[in-house]
Amino acid sequence: MAKAVGVGLIGLGTIGTGVAKVLSANAGVIEQRLGFPLRLVRVADLDTETDRGVDLSGIRFDSDAEGLIDDPEVEIVVELIGGYDVARRLVLRSIEAGKHIVTANKALLALHGAEIFGAALRRDVDVAFEASVAGGIPILRSIREGLVANRIECVRGIMNGTTNYVLTEMEETGEDFDVVVKRAQDLGYAEADPSFDLDGVDAAHKLTLLAAMAFGAELTFKEVPTEGIRGLAPVDFEAASELGDRIKLLGIAKCHIGDDGQERIEARVHPTLVPRRSLLAKVEGAMNAVAVDGDAVGPTLFYGAGAGELPTASAVVADLVEIAREIRRGGAGRVAPLSYVPEALRPLPLVPMGELWGRAYLRFTAVDRPGVLGHIAGVLGEHEIGIESVIQKGRGAATESVPVLVQTHPAREAAIRSALEEIDRLPDVTAPTRLVRIEEDA
Ligand code: HSE
Repeated sequence: MAKAVGVGLIGLGTIGTGVAKVLSANAGVIEQRLGFPLRLVRVADLDTETDRGVDLSGIRFDSDAEGLIDDPEVEIVVELIGGYDVARRLVLRSIEAGKHIVTANKALLALHGAEIFGAALRRDVDVAFEASVAGGIPILRSIREGLVANRIECVRGIMNGTTNYVLTEMEETGEDFDVVVKRAQDLGYAEADPSFDLDGVDAAHKLTLLAAMAFGAELTFKEVPTEGIRGLAPVDFEAASELGDRIKLLGIAKCHIGDDGQERIEARVHPTLVPRRSLLAKVEGAMNAVAVDGDAVGPTLFYGAGAGELPTASAVVADLVEIAREIRRGGAGRVAPLSYVPEALRPLPLVPMGELWGRAYLRFTAVDRPGVLGHIAGVLGEHEIGIESVIQKGRGAATESVPVLVQTHPAREAAIRSALEEIDRLPDVTAPTRLVRIEEDA
């Protein structure tokens, strides 16, 4: 039997603890599949005191990350500290030391991916990051390998467990945003900085990686138009329900091919109304689902836990097993990490948001006075935006503002934006209008 492959784990937070637990609890079945043991030999974390409820006896545990990287027993380094600067330094140092890398750090890869993958290629080591997108769902491996025969047309889905949990709970319980966010943090779903989840940044990191893998598009996540879930109000969930929809934070990436053959990428993250009967609408709590449409396979849907200790650890350990196989049975670099070989990755232009075409849900906040709806409808009409339905909630005193909820016919995003700028300047409109796009065929 080949000798054990040694693993060093940097970062014993929620996911790191999960990795230590899975490696220990499933050591037998992993060895049966791998043919030799996968052994956690060393752990580094600044906090060596807190009891994480995992047995680390026999494993060296200290705060010396660099010593771990240089330890000859460590063949694969797992980076689970998150963030940019320290993580980048440790990952690059590991690569230089000839160590393979497993990471869940989508923020790092979405920002410094080119540098890290380039360094790994030069040193002939692997960088695996299945856990960085959609937690436990093996979506990256599926795109890279299971769907490799396809020209991929569209990738979209619920890519952030925290926001899906918050949206589901707010809809079901009517609780305040902050209360539900705190619970998501306590359950270990949220990023260290929860604004990454709530503002859609985490989903944009993941979408950037998915777009690279699906289309060979070199994007930076900063280019991806991104809106989060803050500011959604209970009335939006009620209106969505009356319209037969649910509100989901979707990441959407599509490849458009023009008449001249020029490829352009549509990529965006924002709250979206999806029909209640659709599969994505049925994804609740911290679960994620990613739909991938390929020209040969047609529509596919991948569903599973998008966050949390053990589901994310499942993806980390899957990467460890794959690399361990390569270490003992062949060389690194069997599959290009971003699915396309590096020279095939190219900067593809983004379709400007203004060009997008679709229906929208608009929550106006206006003084409840005769004629106000007429003014709003007038401005929408001037921008050639038709109204499909209107819901008005409550009727207060003449000075009190009420929500006016409008569902439009399909319209150009640029026209909607200009209309809203004008409407928000009307004297009877008392707060900025909330726009939620509608995805018909989700
Ligand atoms: N904070 C992330 C989420 C964790 O809520 O989905 C997994 O990336």
